[in-house]
Amino acid sequence: MRRSELATFLQEMLEGSQLVERNLHRAVELMRNFKQVAADQASEQRRLFDLADVVREVTDTLKPSLKRYPHALVVDVPGKITMDSYPGALGQVIINLVNNAYLHAFEEGSHGTVKLTAHQEHDRVVIELRDDGVGMTEAMQEQMFLPFFSTKIGRGGTGLGMSIVDNLVKKTLGGNLHVQSAPGEGSVFRLELPLVMTRTEDVGFNAHFQPSDRSHKKAALGCHLGNGFGSAP
Ligand SMILES: Nc1ncnc2c1ncn2[C@@H]1O[C@H](COP(=O)(O)OP(=O)(O)OP(=O)(O)O)[C@@H](O)[C@H]1O
Ligand SMILES: [Mg+2]
Repeated sequence: MRRSELATFLQEMLEGSQLVERNLHRAVELMRNFKQVAADQASEQRRLFDLADVVREVTDTLKPSLKRYPHALVVDVPGKITMDSYPGALGQVIINLVNNAYLHAFEEGSHGTVKLTAHQEHDRVVIELRDDGVGMTEAMQEQMFLPFFSTKIGRGGTGLGMSIVDNLVKKTLGGNLHVQSAPGEGSVFRLELPLVMTRTEDVGFNAHFQPSDRSHKKAALGCHLGNGFGSAP
């Protein structure tokens, strides 16, 4: 065997083991994410709560990690919207959406704003999370709810965040979710949730985790400039 052949062989071995190591890290990350959801589900309680209180608790928890970014989170949720539902699930939804805005909506060096608002409409509450960031193409909006779709795979994204949101909103909270977005126009995530879960809506936390049925998308605003992000790697 020649020296150069040995060197090539060793280089390939090294690259192979690095690939294995990266995949192991990814597997650990996925396990952590699943475990988190499982823990939330196990400790979950349905109870009466004030929406503004729960939103404040969640945003207070997020504050330390959001402080690292130049963006602003503006919360405008009136008091006295009382819900009889699952505050843990609702909190997880808000966390995933706010994190996504911070991580995906804003370009390097920009100062974005994320607004979280809510109002009551009869026996439902409408919660909107809006960012003034880069927005998404139609193609991205269709894929974003699929498990493992992420434009940051290998850079901290697992692609599970939005499929968890979809599942929690529809199954656990008995509501629905619409996305309105277009490239350059930011994104709006609109949740409509029943204030009080009826018996038929209440599937609790026994619901199976299923991929999205893609029925959550409203017509997007304005024109679309093609899928600049490509499909998931
Ligand atoms: N507010 C947003 N603005 C622009 N793109 C977004 C926004 N929210 C989500 N996305 C896109 O949708 C993709 C899927 O989001 P999702 O939360 O499922 O995965 P992720 O954030 O990449 O990973 P994680 O599982 O860690 O949350 C993101 O990778 C990103 O490309
Ligand atoms: Mg995410």
